[in-house]
Amino acid sequence: MEYVPLGRGGPKVSEVGIGTWQAGGKAWGSDVRDADCRRAMERAVELGINLVDTAEAYGDGHSEKVMSKAIQNVGRDHVFIATKVGGWHLRGDDVKKACAASLKRLGVREVDLYQVHWPDPWSQVPLRETMKALETLHRAGKIRNIGVSNFAVRDLNEARAHLSRADIVSNQVRYNMLQRTIEAEVLPYCKREGIAILAWSPIGKGILSGKYHDGKRPKDRIRAEEDLFKPANLRATVPKSRSRGFAATRTSSRFPGRNGRLRRRRTRAPQGGP
Ligand SMILES: NC(=O)c1ccc[n+]([C@@H]2O[C@H](COP(=O)([O-])OP(=O)(O)OC[C@H]3O[C@@H](n4cnc5c(N)ncnc54)[C@H](OP(=O)(O)O)[C@@H]3O)[C@@H](O)[C@H]2O)c1
Repeated sequence: MEYVPLGRGGPKVSEVGIGTWQAGGKAWGSDVRDADCRRAMERAVELGINLVDTAEAYGDGHSEKVMSKAIQNVGRDHVFIATKVGGWHLRGDDVKKACAASLKRLGVREVDLYQVHWPDPWSQVPLRETMKALETLHRAGKIRNIGVSNFAVRDLNEARAHLSRADIVSNQVRYNMLQRTIEAEVLPYCKREGIAILAWSPIGKGILSGKYHDGKRPKDRIRAEEDLFKPANLRATVPKSRSRGFAATRTSSRFPGRNGRLRRRRTRAPQGGP
């Protein structure tokens, strides 16, 4: 496993993280079990992953509760906990209450990264109010780093302008071989400004894994409603058995990964935390 700084000079985290939306519950299928999700997270840490991503939105806090037991089992110092405040909680007081509730569910005194899940589209709470609340939590030691998610460049610029003692270390955005919108503006901006990108849906919710094709569709609600799994896309995929286990989808896109090498080296996460 490679460990990279989160943002400019930030804490080191594993280049591959584990997302725990699935641990939120049944929307991902009737076979989702808490014990399996916990074991998956514990195994990820054994394999060198230390970045664990969750959110209050995942199963209304259920994912955070499931992760709490796994964090206890692997030891708090072996995980970098990233969680998120939902876009409906961006009033100053709501941010503070949401953070306290997440800490309680996770069973920890502080989280390593607290992210604004998405800019508020409904009440249009001024970003200044949200960022000031985050800075207060940061000063109080409840959140070690401030992050955002699904922020465009205009949102990033505005949010950063309201922070005086800290900066945004990361932006979590959709990024995979088929969905590359961030390459136009967000990616170059973040690269230039030293803001880390946390890619969500890195394997397109599984369509890039080769497991799904015209004859095999995912049964869960989340993916049944997802554009990526539309019949035309499923027809275009090559079943794993015919693709020698590599390319899952027919695409002319070239993935701009770091020199495209497959990394197989495995080491334990650094002792004593990220
Ligand atoms: N910030 C945001 O707005 C946002 C949005 C979406 C996701 N995220 C984060 O990014 C993470 C990854 O993205 P993603 O989930 O959309 O897509 P992904 O990582 O591209 O694909 C999801 C993978 O999860 C697997 N999976 C499904 N049910 C599972 C279960 N019960 N236990 C373990 N794995 C299961 C699927 O495997 P199978 O195909 O074998 O079922 C699929 O390959 C999420 O977990 C979440 O933490 C953030």
